[in-house]
Amino acid sequence: MEFGGNGNAKPLALGLRFLIYGRKGCIGGLLGKICEAQGIPFAYGSGRLEDHQSLVDDIAAVQPSHVFNATGPPHVDRGEFSKIQTIRSNVIGALILADVCQEKGLPLIFYSIGCMFHYDADHPIGFTENDSCGSFCSKTKGMAEEWIKNYENVCILRVGMPVFSDLSHHRNFITGYHERVVNIPNSMTVLDELLPISIEMAKRNLKGIWNFTNPGVLTHNQVLEMYRDYVDPNFTWNNFSVQQQAKCNNELDSTKLKEEFPEILPIKESVIKYIFEPNKKNINHY
Ligand SMILES: NC(=O)c1ccc[n+]([C@@H]2O[C@H](COP(=O)([O-])OP(=O)(O)OC[C@H]3O[C@@H](n4cnc5c(N)ncnc54)[C@H](OP(=O)(O)O)[C@@H]3O)[C@@H](O)[C@H]2O)c1
Repeated sequence: MEFGGNGNAKPLALGLRFLIYGRKGCIGGLLGKICEAQGIPFAYGSGRLEDHQSLVDDIAAVQPSHVFNATGPPHVDRGEFSKIQTIRSNVIGALILADVCQEKGLPLIFYSIGCMFHYDADHPIGFTENDSCGSFCSKTKGMAEEWIKNYENVCILRVGMPVFSDLSHHRNFITGYHERVVNIPNSMTVLDELLPISIEMAKRNLKGIWNFTNPGVLTHNQVLEMYRDYVDPNFTWNNFSVQQQAKCNNELDSTKLKEEFPEILPIKESVIKYIFEPNKKNINHY
């Protein structure tokens, strides 16, 4: 098992040693970079979540202080096409990992998904941590959450539409989906700002369910207008109606997270500070 970190960065954070699942995902990949920058020893898990013994072996090899589950199938829509594999990983595997961590007395940080909910007559505005999962595009994550929330060692983070400063990444909600843009308000998670917060949550040993989004909402059109203004004045996109896509748009109430971390920026400010200012190319803007 190889440990991350280049050895000449920050001094090692004493007592911390992270085991991270999801090396090739955008969240797992960024977590590794943040650990390197912060001098936190970490290793990516080599086992498969649905293989109990492989998780036990990883833990024995790494001796982690915390475990992070940042796995997911390549795309949420894949659930429609590879249902068994999605259930195996998102439900069965996620539960096995939570159970192994509980047996070993290890805190688990589980990146779940925010778009388990969608607006309806009962929820015209926002959702709190007490709302349970409806039938939706990320039902498997929601089902896993329903069981995993009973484990006292787990911190469940409901990630909203992920946006981050690597605008070339295919998973970036800003540029990755501009061929089919639904123009309704959404909760978003600025990964550059909030993934370090998730590491801080691990350090504070926070547990339970957290809506892991920046406060407030933006429509996809508002974000793309900013992209056009800051980065590419020739950028265009296609709107289509919400009926044409899986209902994966909603507002999550992030009051609980904001109370724990008052420094978290509202979504528009965060997007500008962490994403558009560093990527600013349109010299005619401002
Ligand atoms: N990115 C989004 O659109 C988004 C939005 C909201 C919430 N989230 C949350 O964040 C999670 C991570 O998203 P992401 O986009 O960063 O990751 P991702 O690209 O969906 O995850 C891919 C990673 O998970 C690993 N993986 C998949 N099944 C596995 C299994 N059974 N055992 C071990 N590893 C497995 C993959 O390894 P292999 O390639 O080796 O299979 C890969 O490293 C999501 O599942 C979701 O809960 C994501």
